[in-house]
Amino acid sequence: MITAVKGTQDTLFPEIGRWQRVEAVAREVFHRYGFTEIRTPILEPTELFVRGIGDETDIVNKEMYTFADRKGRSVTMRPENTAGVARAFVEHRLHESPLHSRLFYMGPQFRYERPQKGRLRQFHQIGAEVLGDAAPGTDAETIGMLVEFLQKAGVVGIEVVLNSVGCPACRPVFVALLKDALAPRAGELCGDCRRRLETNPLRVLDCKVPSCQPILDAAPAIADHLCEACAEHHAGVKRILAGMAVSFSERARLVRGLDYYTRTVFEVTSSALGSQDALLGGGRYDGLLEEIGGPAMAGFGWALGMERLLMVVPPAPSGRLPWTYAAWAGEAAYERTLALARHLRREGHVVVMEHAPRSFKSSLKRADRMNVKWVLIVGEEEVASQTYTLKDLDTGEQEALSEASLGARLREKTP
Ligand code: HAM
Repeated sequence: MITAVKGTQDTLFPEIGRWQRVEAVAREVFHRYGFTEIRTPILEPTELFVRGIGDETDIVNKEMYTFADRKGRSVTMRPENTAGVARAFVEHRLHESPLHSRLFYMGPQFRYERPQKGRLRQFHQIGAEVLGDAAPGTDAETIGMLVEFLQKAGVVGIEVVLNSVGCPACRPVFVALLKDALAPRAGELCGDCRRRLETNPLRVLDCKVPSCQPILDAAPAIADHLCEACAEHHAGVKRILAGMAVSFSERARLVRGLDYYTRTVFEVTSSALGSQDALLGGGRYDGLLEEIGGPAMAGFGWALGMERLLMVVPPAPSGRLPWTYAAWAGEAAYERTLALARHLRREGHVVVMEHAPRSFKSSLKRADRMNVKWVLIVGEEEVASQTYTLKDLDTGEQEALSEASLGARLREKTP
Protein backbone atom coordinates (compact mmCIF):
# COMPACT_ATOMS: atom_id res chain seq x y z
CA MET A 1 0.00 0.00 0.00
CA ILE A 2 1.25 3.48 -0.85
CA THR A 3 0.74 5.78 2.12
CA ALA A 4 0.97 9.55 2.50
CA VAL A 5 4.41 11.07 3.06
CA LYS A 6 5.28 11.30 6.77
CA GLY A 7 4.04 14.55 8.28
CA THR A 8 1.40 15.14 5.60
CA GLN A 9 -2.28 14.34 5.82
CA ASP A 10 -5.47 13.98 3.82
CA THR A 11 -8.46 16.05 4.87
CA LEU A 12 -11.91 14.67 4.18
CA PHE A 13 -15.51 15.64 4.66
CA PRO A 14 -16.90 16.47 7.21
CA GLU A 15 -13.59 17.72 8.68
CA ILE A 16 -13.01 19.75 5.50
CA GLY A 17 -16.20 21.62 6.38
CA ARG A 18 -14.45 23.09 9.42
CA TRP A 19 -11.58 24.28 7.19
CA GLN A 20 -14.04 25.88 4.79
CA ARG A 21 -15.94 27.60 7.60
CA VAL A 22 -12.75 29.08 9.05
CA GLU A 23 -11.60 30.14 5.58
CA ALA A 24 -14.98 31.76 4.89
CA VAL A 25 -14.79 33.71 8.16
CA ALA A 26 -11.25 34.82 7.27
CA ARG A 27 -12.28 35.99 3.81
CA GLU A 28 -15.27 37.86 5.20
CA VAL A 29 -13.30 39.67 7.92
CA PHE A 30 -10.26 40.47 5.75
CA HIS A 31 -12.49 41.75 2.97
CA ARG A 32 -13.97 44.32 5.33
CA TYR A 33 -10.48 45.64 6.04
CA GLY A 34 -9.74 45.99 2.31
CA PHE A 35 -7.38 43.01 2.07
CA THR A 36 -7.26 41.19 -1.26
CA GLU A 37 -6.13 37.63 -1.82
CA ILE A 38 -2.78 36.69 -3.31
CA ARG A 39 -1.77 33.18 -4.41
CA THR A 40 1.94 32.76 -4.87
CA PRO A 41 3.70 29.64 -6.17
CA ILE A 42 4.69 26.83 -3.86
CA LEU A 43 8.07 26.62 -5.58
CA GLU A 44 10.33 29.62 -5.21
CA PRO A 45 14.03 30.15 -5.87
CA THR A 46 15.94 28.92 -2.80
CA GLU A 47 17.78 32.22 -2.62
CA LEU A 48 14.54 34.00 -1.74
CA PHE A 49 14.32 32.19 1.59
CA VAL A 50 18.03 32.23 2.30
CA ARG A 51 18.07 36.01 1.89
CA GLY A 52 14.59 36.68 3.25
CA ILE A 53 14.33 34.38 6.28
CA GLY A 54 18.06 34.30 7.03
CA ASP A 55 20.67 31.58 6.64
CA GLU A 56 21.20 31.23 10.39
CA THR A 57 17.58 30.28 11.08
CA ASP A 58 16.38 26.73 11.78
CA ILE A 59 13.99 27.00 8.85
CA VAL A 60 16.71 27.67 6.30
CA ASN A 61 19.35 25.49 7.97
CA LYS A 62 17.41 22.35 8.67
CA GLU A 63 13.82 22.46 7.52
CA MET A 64 13.54 23.37 3.87
CA TYR A 65 12.50 21.04 1.08
CA THR A 66 15.16 22.15 -1.37
CA PHE A 67 16.17 20.41 -4.55
CA ALA A 68 17.71 21.10 -7.92
CA ASP A 69 15.28 21.11 -10.84
CA ARG A 70 16.16 19.40 -14.11
CA LYS A 71 18.27 22.35 -15.17
CA GLY A 72 20.15 22.34 -11.88
CA ARG A 73 18.48 25.45 -10.44
CA SER A 74 17.94 25.30 -6.71
CA VAL A 75 14.26 25.59 -5.83
CA THR A 76 12.49 25.32 -2.49
CA MET A 77 8.95 24.41 -1.53
CA ARG A 78 7.95 27.47 0.42
CA PRO A 79 8.35 27.07 4.20
CA GLU A 80 6.29 30.24 4.73
CA ASN A 81 4.55 32.80 2.54
CA THR A 82 5.85 36.22 3.58
CA ALA A 83 8.98 36.02 1.44
CA GLY A 84 6.90 34.92 -1.58
CA VAL A 85 4.45 37.77 -1.08
CA ALA A 86 7.37 40.21 -0.82
CA ARG A 87 8.89 38.72 -3.98
CA ALA A 88 5.61 39.09 -5.88
CA PHE A 89 5.19 42.63 -4.55
CA VAL A 90 8.60 43.64 -5.86
CA GLU A 91 8.36 41.68 -9.11
CA HIS A 92 5.00 43.19 -10.08
CA ARG A 93 5.87 46.67 -8.78
CA LEU A 94 2.85 46.55 -6.52
CA HIS A 95 4.15 49.54 -4.58
CA GLU A 96 2.70 51.54 -7.47
CA SER A 97 -0.73 50.10 -6.72
CA PRO A 98 -2.20 51.14 -3.35
CA LEU A 99 -4.94 48.56 -3.89
CA HIS A 100 -2.38 45.79 -3.47
CA SER A 101 -0.73 46.91 -0.28
CA ARG A 102 -2.98 44.76 1.93
CA LEU A 103 -2.78 41.11 0.96
CA PHE A 104 -3.92 37.84 2.47
CA TYR A 105 -3.22 34.23 1.56
CA MET A 106 -4.21 30.70 2.45
CA GLY A 107 -2.24 27.67 1.47
CA PRO A 108 0.19 24.87 2.16
CA GLN A 109 3.70 25.42 3.51
CA PHE A 110 6.46 22.85 3.90
CA ARG A 111 8.98 22.35 6.67
CA TYR A 112 10.99 19.25 7.40
CA GLU A 113 10.27 19.13 11.13
CA ARG A 114 9.71 16.23 13.49
CA PRO A 115 5.97 15.57 13.10
CA GLN A 116 3.89 15.70 16.28
CA LYS A 117 0.50 17.01 17.32
CA GLY A 118 0.06 20.41 15.66
CA ARG A 119 3.38 20.09 13.83
CA LEU A 120 3.43 18.76 10.29
CA ARG A 121 5.73 18.73 7.30
CA GLN A 122 2.98 20.01 5.07
CA PHE A 123 0.90 22.43 7.07
CA HIS A 124 -1.39 25.25 6.02
CA GLN A 125 -1.29 28.90 6.82
CA ILE A 126 -3.70 31.77 6.65
CA GLY A 127 -1.77 35.01 6.67
CA ALA A 128 -2.05 38.71 6.05
CA GLU A 129 0.59 41.23 5.03
CA VAL A 130 0.55 45.03 4.78
CA LEU A 131 3.28 46.47 2.60
CA GLY A 132 4.54 50.01 2.48
CA ASP A 133 3.13 51.45 5.70
CA ALA A 134 5.66 51.97 8.47
CA ALA A 135 3.34 53.60 11.00
CA PRO A 136 2.46 51.84 14.27
CA GLY A 137 -1.26 51.99 13.45
CA THR A 138 -0.65 49.35 10.76
CA ASP A 139 0.68 46.91 13.34
CA ALA A 140 -2.21 47.60 15.69
CA GLU A 141 -4.96 47.48 13.07
CA THR A 142 -3.66 44.26 11.51
CA ILE A 143 -3.48 42.62 14.93
CA GLY A 144 -6.98 43.94 15.64
CA MET A 145 -8.27 42.38 12.41
CA LEU A 146 -6.70 39.11 13.43
CA VAL A 147 -8.33 39.15 16.85
CA GLU A 148 -11.69 39.88 15.24
CA PHE A 149 -11.18 36.92 12.91
CA LEU A 150 -10.19 34.57 15.75
CA GLN A 151 -13.20 35.59 17.79
CA LYS A 152 -15.55 35.11 14.84
CA ALA A 153 -13.99 31.70 14.21
CA GLY A 154 -14.97 30.76 17.76
CA VAL A 155 -11.50 30.62 19.32
CA VAL A 156 -11.56 31.31 23.05
CA GLY A 157 -8.82 31.90 25.58
CA ILE A 158 -6.40 33.71 23.27
CA GLU A 159 -3.56 35.86 24.43
CA VAL A 160 -1.66 38.35 22.27
CA VAL A 161 1.97 38.64 23.39
CA LEU A 162 4.04 41.48 22.09
CA ASN A 163 7.64 42.62 21.97
CA SER A 164 9.94 44.77 19.88
CA VAL A 165 13.20 43.49 18.42
CA GLY A 166 14.44 46.94 17.46
CA CYS A 167 16.02 47.89 14.16
CA PRO A 168 19.46 47.66 12.52
CA ALA A 169 20.45 50.78 14.46
CA CYS A 170 19.67 49.64 17.99
CA ARG A 171 19.67 45.85 17.75
CA PRO A 172 23.43 45.39 17.35
CA VAL A 173 23.98 47.51 20.45
CA PHE A 174 21.56 45.33 22.39
CA VAL A 175 23.06 42.12 20.99
CA ALA A 176 26.50 43.18 22.23
CA LEU A 177 24.99 43.95 25.64
CA LEU A 178 23.22 40.58 25.67
CA LYS A 179 26.40 38.71 24.77
CA ASP A 180 28.30 40.48 27.55
CA ALA A 181 25.55 39.79 30.04
CA LEU A 182 25.40 36.09 29.16
CA ALA A 183 29.15 35.54 28.78
CA PRO A 184 29.90 34.83 32.47
CA ARG A 185 27.29 32.04 32.53
CA ALA A 186 27.68 30.81 28.95
CA GLY A 187 29.11 27.52 30.19
CA GLU A 188 25.82 26.76 31.97
CA LEU A 189 23.74 27.24 28.82
CA CYS A 190 22.71 24.36 26.54
CA GLY A 191 24.69 23.50 23.41
CA ASP A 192 22.15 25.18 21.13
CA CYS A 193 22.32 28.40 23.14
CA ARG A 194 26.13 28.38 23.12
CA ARG A 195 26.11 27.94 19.34
CA ARG A 196 23.46 30.63 18.85
CA LEU A 197 25.35 33.02 21.08
CA GLU A 198 27.88 33.08 18.23
CA THR A 199 25.60 32.83 15.18
CA ASN A 200 22.28 34.48 16.11
CA PRO A 201 22.46 35.73 19.72
CA LEU A 202 18.94 37.16 19.92
CA ARG A 203 17.52 33.67 19.30
CA VAL A 204 19.10 32.48 22.54
CA LEU A 205 16.23 34.24 24.30
CA ASP A 206 13.80 31.83 22.64
CA CYS A 207 15.39 28.71 24.17
CA LYS A 208 12.94 26.34 25.88
CA VAL A 209 15.47 24.14 27.73
CA PRO A 210 14.50 24.32 31.45
CA SER A 211 18.06 24.74 32.79
CA CYS A 212 18.59 27.82 30.57
CA GLN A 213 15.48 29.60 31.82
CA PRO A 214 16.79 31.29 35.00
CA ILE A 215 19.83 32.60 33.13
CA LEU A 216 17.79 33.92 30.22
CA ASP A 217 15.12 35.40 32.47
CA ALA A 218 17.82 37.48 34.10
CA ALA A 219 19.14 38.74 30.74
CA PRO A 220 18.51 42.35 29.72
CA ALA A 221 15.23 43.05 27.87
CA ILE A 222 15.49 44.44 24.36
CA ALA A 223 12.42 46.61 24.84
CA ASP A 224 14.42 48.55 27.47
CA HIS A 225 17.22 49.22 24.98
CA LEU A 226 15.43 50.45 21.87
CA CYS A 227 16.54 53.55 19.99
CA GLU A 228 14.22 56.52 20.24
CA ALA A 229 12.42 55.81 16.95
CA CYS A 230 11.83 52.15 17.82
CA ALA A 231 10.71 53.02 21.35
CA GLU A 232 8.25 55.53 19.94
CA HIS A 233 6.93 52.98 17.46
CA HIS A 234 6.51 50.37 20.18
CA ALA A 235 4.68 52.82 22.43
CA GLY A 236 2.46 53.79 19.48
CA VAL A 237 1.48 50.18 18.76
CA LYS A 238 0.57 49.60 22.41
CA ARG A 239 -1.38 52.85 22.66
CA ILE A 240 -3.43 52.16 19.52
CA LEU A 241 -4.07 48.54 20.51
CA ALA A 242 -5.30 49.69 23.89
CA GLY A 243 -7.52 52.25 22.16
CA MET A 244 -9.00 49.45 20.06
CA ALA A 245 -9.65 47.45 23.27
CA VAL A 246 -7.38 44.65 22.06
CA SER A 247 -5.81 43.13 25.14
CA PHE A 248 -2.19 42.05 25.00
CA SER A 249 0.75 41.42 27.25
CA GLU A 250 4.41 42.11 26.74
CA ARG A 251 6.95 39.32 26.69
CA ALA A 252 10.55 40.50 26.90
CA ARG A 253 11.96 37.26 25.52
CA LEU A 254 9.76 37.00 22.43
CA VAL A 255 12.10 37.13 19.42
CA ARG A 256 10.62 34.78 16.74
CA GLY A 257 12.43 32.36 14.48
CA LEU A 258 12.80 34.35 11.28
CA ASP A 259 15.48 36.96 10.74
CA TYR A 260 13.46 39.49 8.78
CA TYR A 261 11.73 41.02 11.78
CA THR A 262 12.26 44.61 12.88
CA ARG A 263 10.46 46.39 15.70
CA THR A 264 7.12 44.73 16.50
CA VAL A 265 7.00 40.97 16.93
CA PHE A 266 4.00 39.17 18.35
CA GLU A 267 2.44 35.79 18.84
CA VAL A 268 -0.98 34.59 19.82
CA THR A 269 -1.27 31.64 22.12
CA SER A 270 -4.40 29.78 23.08
CA SER A 271 -4.95 28.24 26.47
CA ALA A 272 -6.47 25.25 24.65
CA LEU A 273 -3.20 24.57 22.82
CA GLY A 274 -0.12 23.07 24.48
CA SER A 275 2.06 25.55 26.31
CA GLN A 276 4.90 25.53 23.78
CA ASP A 277 3.14 26.03 20.50
CA ALA A 278 1.99 29.36 19.21
CA LEU A 279 -1.25 29.51 17.34
CA LEU A 280 0.29 32.12 15.13
CA GLY A 281 3.03 34.67 14.87
CA GLY A 282 4.05 37.73 13.00
CA GLY A 283 5.59 41.13 13.11
CA ARG A 284 7.15 43.96 11.21
CA TYR A 285 9.78 43.40 8.52
CA ASP A 286 10.88 46.80 7.30
CA GLY A 287 14.06 45.53 5.64
CA LEU A 288 12.73 42.49 3.78
CA LEU A 289 11.71 44.07 0.49
CA GLU A 290 15.08 45.77 0.13
CA GLU A 291 16.88 42.57 1.14
CA ILE A 292 15.36 40.74 -1.80
CA GLY A 293 16.15 43.52 -4.28
CA GLY A 294 13.07 45.72 -3.96
CA PRO A 295 12.45 49.25 -2.76
CA ALA A 296 13.10 50.25 0.84
CA MET A 297 9.55 49.70 2.01
CA ALA A 298 8.02 48.64 5.28
CA GLY A 299 6.05 45.46 5.89
CA PHE A 300 3.92 44.00 8.64
CA GLY A 301 2.03 40.74 8.83
CA TRP A 302 1.23 37.49 10.54
CA ALA A 303 0.45 33.91 9.68
CA LEU A 304 -1.43 31.24 11.57
CA GLY A 305 -1.28 27.49 11.31
CA MET A 306 -4.63 26.12 10.18
CA GLU A 307 -4.06 22.73 11.79
CA ARG A 308 -3.36 24.46 15.11
CA LEU A 309 -6.32 26.78 14.75
CA LEU A 310 -8.60 23.82 14.07
CA MET A 311 -7.47 22.30 17.37
CA VAL A 312 -9.05 25.25 19.18
CA VAL A 313 -12.18 26.05 17.16
CA PRO A 314 -15.45 24.34 18.10
CA PRO A 315 -15.95 20.86 16.62
CA ALA A 316 -18.13 20.24 13.57
CA PRO A 317 -21.82 19.91 14.44
CA SER A 318 -22.75 16.29 15.00
CA GLY A 319 -25.96 14.66 13.80
CA ARG A 320 -27.19 13.67 10.39
CA LEU A 321 -26.40 15.68 7.28
CA PRO A 322 -29.44 17.61 6.03
CA TRP A 323 -29.20 15.69 2.74
CA THR A 324 -31.57 13.44 0.85
CA TYR A 325 -30.58 10.06 -0.51
CA ALA A 326 -32.76 9.24 -3.51
CA ALA A 327 -33.42 5.49 -3.55
CA TRP A 328 -35.07 3.90 -6.57
CA ALA A 329 -35.89 0.46 -7.94
CA GLY A 330 -36.86 -0.30 -11.52
CA GLU A 331 -36.35 1.36 -14.90
CA ALA A 332 -39.31 3.79 -14.72
CA ALA A 333 -38.43 4.75 -11.14
CA TYR A 334 -34.86 5.49 -12.20
CA GLU A 335 -36.00 8.01 -14.83
CA ARG A 336 -38.41 9.61 -12.33
CA THR A 337 -35.71 9.81 -9.64
CA LEU A 338 -33.33 11.56 -12.02
CA ALA A 339 -36.02 14.18 -12.66
CA LEU A 340 -36.90 14.52 -8.95
CA ALA A 341 -33.25 14.94 -8.00
CA ARG A 342 -32.80 17.61 -10.65
CA HIS A 343 -35.90 19.41 -9.41
CA LEU A 344 -34.87 19.32 -5.73
CA ARG A 345 -31.29 20.38 -6.44
CA ARG A 346 -32.57 23.34 -8.41
CA GLU A 347 -34.53 24.30 -5.28
CA GLY A 348 -31.28 24.23 -3.32
CA HIS A 349 -31.49 20.82 -1.66
CA VAL A 350 -28.64 18.34 -1.45
CA VAL A 351 -29.63 15.12 -3.19
CA VAL A 352 -27.37 12.11 -3.50
CA MET A 353 -28.28 9.41 -5.94
CA GLU A 354 -26.51 6.23 -6.94
CA HIS A 355 -26.92 4.85 -10.41
CA ALA A 356 -26.09 1.18 -10.16
CA PRO A 357 -29.31 -0.76 -9.40
CA ARG A 358 -29.67 -2.01 -5.81
CA SER A 359 -32.47 -3.09 -3.53
CA PHE A 360 -34.32 -0.62 -1.28
CA LYS A 361 -32.89 -2.46 1.71
CA SER A 362 -29.36 -1.91 0.46
CA SER A 363 -30.12 1.75 -0.43
CA LEU A 364 -31.48 2.43 3.06
CA LYS A 365 -28.40 0.90 4.60
CA ARG A 366 -26.11 3.05 2.49
CA ALA A 367 -28.14 6.18 3.27
CA ASP A 368 -27.83 5.39 6.97
CA ARG A 369 -24.06 4.86 6.66
CA MET A 370 -23.78 8.11 4.74
CA ASN A 371 -25.43 9.70 7.76
CA VAL A 372 -28.00 11.60 5.69
CA LYS A 373 -31.25 12.67 7.28
CA TRP A 374 -33.76 11.74 4.58
CA VAL A 375 -34.35 9.00 2.08
CA LEU A 376 -36.63 9.63 -0.88
CA ILE A 377 -38.14 6.33 -1.93
CA VAL A 378 -39.18 5.95 -5.56
CA GLY A 379 -40.59 2.55 -6.50
CA GLU A 380 -43.13 1.39 -9.07
CA GLU A 381 -46.04 2.31 -6.81
CA GLU A 382 -44.72 5.84 -6.28
CA VAL A 383 -44.29 6.32 -10.01
CA ALA A 384 -47.85 5.17 -10.63
CA SER A 385 -49.40 7.36 -7.89
CA GLN A 386 -46.99 10.28 -8.42
CA THR A 387 -46.52 10.57 -4.68
CA TYR A 388 -43.15 9.80 -3.22
CA THR A 389 -42.15 8.53 0.18
CA LEU A 390 -39.87 10.70 2.28
CA LYS A 391 -38.37 8.85 5.20
CA ASP A 392 -36.72 10.65 8.10
CA LEU A 393 -33.88 8.46 9.31
CA ASP A 394 -33.76 10.18 12.71
CA THR A 395 -37.38 9.47 13.61
CA GLY A 396 -38.25 6.68 11.19
CA GLU A 397 -41.35 8.69 10.12
CA GLN A 398 -42.52 8.38 6.54
CA GLU A 399 -44.61 10.82 4.54
CA ALA A 400 -46.16 10.59 1.08
CA LEU A 401 -45.60 13.79 -0.90
CA SER A 402 -46.14 15.07 -4.41
CA GLU A 403 -43.24 16.37 -6.46
CA ALA A 404 -44.49 19.93 -5.98
CA SER A 405 -44.60 19.68 -2.18
CA LEU A 406 -41.33 17.77 -1.62
CA GLY A 407 -39.03 20.78 -1.76
CA ALA A 408 -41.11 22.87 0.63
CA ARG A 409 -41.42 19.99 3.08
CA LEU A 410 -37.66 19.44 3.10
CA ARG A 411 -37.13 23.11 3.71
CA GLU A 412 -39.55 23.08 6.66
CA LYS A 413 -37.83 20.07 8.17
CA THR A 414 -34.25 21.31 7.70
CA PRO A 415 -32.83 22.17 11.12
P1 HAM B 1 6.02 31.18 11.81
O1 HAM B 1 6.00 31.53 13.26
O2 HAM B 1 7.20 30.44 11.31
O3 HAM B 1 5.88 32.56 11.02
O4 HAM B 1 4.73 30.38 11.44
C1 HAM B 1 3.45 30.92 11.72
C2 HAM B 1 2.53 29.84 12.22
O5 HAM B 1 2.50 28.74 11.31
C3 HAM B 1 2.95 29.19 13.54
O6 HAM B 1 2.57 29.97 14.63
C4 HAM B 1 2.19 27.88 13.49
O7 HAM B 1 0.84 28.07 13.85
C5 HAM B 1 2.24 27.54 12.03
N1 HAM B 1 3.31 26.56 11.79
C6 HAM B 1 4.62 26.79 11.60
N2 HAM B 1 5.27 25.62 11.41
C7 HAM B 1 4.35 24.63 11.48
C8 HAM B 1 4.37 23.21 11.35
N3 HAM B 1 5.50 22.55 11.08
N4 HAM B 1 3.22 22.52 11.50
C9 HAM B 1 2.06 23.18 11.75
N5 HAM B 1 1.97 24.51 11.87
C10 HAM B 1 3.09 25.24 11.74
C11 HAM B 1 5.78 32.66 9.68
O8 HAM B 1 5.62 31.72 8.92
C12 HAM B 1 5.79 34.08 9.19
N6 HAM B 1 5.74 34.07 7.72
C13 HAM B 1 4.64 34.87 9.77
C14 HAM B 1 4.61 36.26 9.28
C15 HAM B 1 3.81 36.76 8.33
N7 HAM B 1 5.37 37.23 9.71
C16 HAM B 1 5.08 38.34 9.04
N8 HAM B 1 4.16 38.05 8.18
